This record gives sequence, structure tokens and C-alpha cells, in this order.
Amino acid sequence: MYLNFQHKNSMNKIKTALLGLGNVNLGLLKILRDKRELLRSQYGVEFLITAVADSSGMAVSESGYRYEDLIALKSNKRKVRDLTGFLPDVPSDVLPLHANAELLIESSPVNLTDGNPGLSATKLALNKGWKVVLANKAPMVFAYDELHRLANEHHTRIAFSATVCGGLPVINVLRRDMAGASLRHFKGILNATTNHILKALETGGTMEEAIKEAQRVGAAEADSMHDVKGHDAANKLYIIMKSFTDFTGTIKDIETNGIQNITAEDLALARQRGNTIKLIASAIPQGNTWKLSVKPTEVKANSFLGQCEGWEMGVEFESDLYESISMKIIEEDPLATSAAVLRDMIEVTK
Ligand SMILES: NC(=O)c1ccc[n+]([C@@H]2O[C@H](COP(=O)([O-])OP(=O)(O)OC[C@H]3O[C@@H](n4cnc5c(N)ncnc54)[C@H](OP(=O)(O)O)[C@@H]3O)[C@@H](O)[C@H]2O)c1
Repeated sequence: MYLNFQHKNSMNKIKTALLGLGNVNLGLLKILRDKRELLRSQYGVEFLITAVADSSGMAVSESGYRYEDLIALKSNKRKVRDLTGFLPDVPSDVLPLHANAELLIESSPVNLTDGNPGLSATKLALNKGWKVVLANKAPMVFAYDELHRLANEHHTRIAFSATVCGGLPVINVLRRDMAGASLRHFKGILNATTNHILKALETGGTMEEAIKEAQRVGAAEADSMHDVKGHDAANKLYIIMKSFTDFTGTIKDIETNGIQNITAEDLALARQRGNTIKLIASAIPQGNTWKLSVKPTEVKANSFLGQCEGWEMGVEFESDLYESISMKIIEEDPLATSAAVLRDMIEVTK
């Protein structure tokens, strides 16, 4: 164990605001509860939750809410409006104007109409010099450049590794471990819900049952059609391209088709050809730009992506310096996404 730093004399208490108290932030609270001592001893950090918001509005506490109390609140299907410190008539998108914090964890639902409440709250937080960690892709999809500019202007940081494949460290590997390389080709299965649906269809299940299962385990988007129609995967591809390449286009430049018309018969026929069907996101250089797509694609059943089954997500990067790097994760439980939020929290508050 090489990370056994002793920070007992220099504890950094970070006042933290949580936007959204669903699967991701609830998982985060459980990790913070269970790893309190490890965070103190190895990283010298403690996260004090001074503001929270859900669909009922926001609440604040100067001394901080106990992790256990917030977990109990949501586990009992109660709302933030039931908390001491609830601020009636204050919408969650202006949370940073009413909270005393230095870090925003943005895990509200994806809103592909205007990005809010996440986008507005993220901008306000950066304008106040707060650090921001995102699980929600929408702010990145609507305003990737603007949010980075704001972070620079206010000498603060924004991290978003949880937005792309949850726990799989796609963004971190690209930006940190492949620094200096140029992407030649990218292919990935970026959405576990649709990969689970395809597996279910192949093994005698129905799309409806598979979606229900994804909703039960907390893997599906609040609107599961974002998954099925390929929008979630397209959002992730967009964030990958903005993070690591010279891509200057918009989400509309990604040709997006979902798996809504794929049948068990299509999958069986593909198998007869030694193939399988996956929802593949891909980026191929085309002249001085990129050909970007998310679509159901027949791939060799024994290839790396062909063997990413069910709850797995996988990526393949080909670059000029590293030839080919492939990696995958099994992510049925959103806890790995909560953990990805935590790794970003540790990183931005170092
Ligand atoms: N689950 C995953 O595996 C996963 C993986 C990667 C990224 N993400 C992203 O992480 C985000 C959160 O996912 P999740 O699974 O935690 O979603 P979720 O379980 O649906 O939770 C969403 C939370 O946001 C709250 N909310 C809804 N409208 C709001 C508003 N206007 N203002 C403030 N809060 C509001 C909800 O309130 P109530 O509690 O009152 O309903 C709920 O607490 C999403 O953007 C998702 O795309 C999720």
C-alpha cells in the first residue's frame, strides 16, 4: 500500500453542495460514510455537506448535514423539503447563490432541452470560484467550452470523469495517461442499459422487461428513451471528442440511431454470421474533421467489443503513440459512478 499518507494534522474540510439526491449522490453519501476514516488518513480531507437539492427544492446547513441522515431521508422516500434548513421558493438551479460551499457535486437528471438545473447551477458555482464535479452530462453537452473558460477565469476546476461510462476511467486515461498522443480511431460501447437490453433480447427476454430491470438497479437514465435511442451514448462521445481531440462541432454532428428497432431475430441472424449487434459509438477521421456516429453495428462476436456483454461497457482507442488501448467495466450498480464522482472530488480538492 503506497498511499498511506498521514494527514491528521492538516485536515481539509471541504464545504460541499449536492445537486440531486438520487442513485449517484446517494451512493456517494454511502461511500463518504463508509470511507470517512480512509479519506481522512490517506487524503487529509473531509466533505461537509452544507447544501442539498432534489426535485422539491434546496436546503442549507452551516454545520453540515450528517451523511447518515441524508441517506435515511432518501431511503425513506422523503424529500429535501422535509429537512431543517429548507429554503421555500428557492429553485435548485440557483443553489450556489444561497449556499455556503466551495464544491458543487452536480448529479441532477439529464435535461436535453436547456441543460437545467445542472447547467445554470454549474455556471453560478464556477462564477463564485467553486470547484465543480459533474455526473450529469448535460452541462458539458450544452456548454463544454464556456464552462472550461469560466473555470479558468475564476482559477478553479471542473471535473467530469463520471459523465463518460461511470466508473470506467475513459476521460482520465485519455487526458492523463495518453497525454501527447493523437486519436486515430475510437470505438466504444458507452451505454450499459442498451447493452443489457441487447443481451436480454438475445436470450429470450423483451425490451420492456430489460428496461424495467435497468430502472430497478438505477442504471437507466431518468428518461430511458435517452438510452434506447442512443442519445446518452452520443452525449458521451461528444464529451470524449471535446476532451481529447480538435473536434469543434456540436452534438448535432453525431449521426445518432438507437436500438429501438433491433429484434431477437436480427441478433440471431448476426450470430449465424459469427457476429453480434452492439450499439457502437465511433469516431473516424475524415479529411480535417471527424465522422462521428452512434448506431447499432454488426461486429465480430469474438472481438473485444463483441465480447462486452450485458452490463459491460468498453472502449478501444487507437492513437499514434500507443497503438491500441482497450478497456472495459462491468457496471450494473451505479456505485462505480458514485466512486468516479469521489475520485474527481479528491482530485479537484488536492
Ligand atoms: N445512474 C448511473 O449509473 C449514472 C451513471 C453516469 C452518470 N449518471 C448521471 O448522473 C445523474 C444522476 O443520475 P441518478 O442515477 O442519480 O439519477 P436519479 O436517481 O434519477 O436522481 C436524480 C436526482 O435529481 C433530483 N432532481 C430532479 N429534478 C431536480 C431539480 N429540478 N433540481 C434538483 N434536483 C432534481 C431528483 O429528485 P427526487 O429525489 O426528488 O426525485 C433525484 O434526487 C444523471 O444526470 C445521470 O445521467 C448516472
